[in-house]
Amino acid sequence: MKFNKNICLGIESTAHTFGIGIIDFNGNVYSNINNIFIPESGGLHPYQVREQHLNNFMRVINQALLEARCSINDIDLITFSQSPGLGPVLKIGALVARMMSQINKIPIVGVNHCVAHVEIGRLMCKINDPLTLYVSGGNTIVSAFESNRYQIFGETLDLPIGNLIDSFARLVGLAHPGGPKIENLAHQSEKYIPLPYIVKGMDLSFSGLFTAARRLVKSKDYKKKYDLKDIAFSLQETAFAMLTEVTERALAHTDKSEVLLTGGVAANKRLQEMIRYISQEHDARFEVVPLKFAGDNGVMIAWTGILKYKEEGGNDVSDTYVKPKERMDEISIPWRS
Ligand code: ATP
Ligand code: FE2
Repeated sequence: MKFNKNICLGIESTAHTFGIGIIDFNGNVYSNINNIFIPESGGLHPYQVREQHLNNFMRVINQALLEARCSINDIDLITFSQSPGLGPVLKIGALVARMMSQINKIPIVGVNHCVAHVEIGRLMCKINDPLTLYVSGGNTIVSAFESNRYQIFGETLDLPIGNLIDSFARLVGLAHPGGPKIENLAHQSEKYIPLPYIVKGMDLSFSGLFTAARRLVKSKDYKKKYDLKDIAFSLQETAFAMLTEVTERALAHTDKSEVLLTGGVAANKRLQEMIRYISQEHDARFEVVPLKFAGDNGVMIAWTGILKYKEEGGNDVSDTYVKPKERMDEISIPWRS
């Protein structure tokens, strides 16, 4: 294919996904290929993930180029997830990006992964200035744009929501990812068992909820007075009501007229229903990011890199080191000022 527009290749490598997205500077997507590490048991071990990404990155890149029907010579910009995430895993994406950039003399741009989740939502849902609920295995953030930044209005103080659900699923012997399986079980029950509901100011705490759910599974009443589907239902209802409360308060405070739901947990129909309800109550338009762009992917990294590049040009090579702890509210967003 001959391109008459500038083309960007984006590399996602913050956690379990090594993703490559190829898009043009107008936001047309040519490929979106992900290789996802799935642990055989337990959680994500950064060094195991790193090995998988190291062993697969070239295959994913070649597949993405093939699908986009282009070669590295057609690429005008390389972008990569520079923050936040697991240090050893972030470094693989950064290394691959720096190599491709230096060998082929292509400008390079580092991107904050959380900002990318919002930007791809704005692009795909044709939405301008949303309040965003970003819920995934590694993050739980309520954010909106104010004073040149994506400010964080609420966040988890301990476990991210996806991690809570996955950990509970693992405890009861369900394979990773637990989210869809817990949703399916929850759908089969309406029996609510009270669980700790912990909202502190605008922040959330899920660790007590996990402990209480585990206690229910270990109790002598388990499979007598209630069963797994009742716990799944109660866990979802409690955790999602907490998320909904904080999102609604942020919506009332910021007075935004759009609400965006993103991250892997955005796939959950019950959560969508609750956030849609409060959006309607506040006359706000509600959008869920299309699921192939809601979870981690290279396209969101490509698109956010393009926005940044158009304003500021490429990163200096000395500014391509990874920042595992960088928060989305620490960086200014020049393309929205
Ligand atoms: P991040 O790096 O942004 O924290 P991540 O590495 O967790 O993201 P994602 O693909 O965004 O990756 O999200 C994966 C999470 O989404 C997992 O915790 C998974 O269980 C959860 N999930 C997927 N589908 C559902 C669902 N239907 N209901 C609830 N959770 C879901
Ligand atoms: Fe993510």
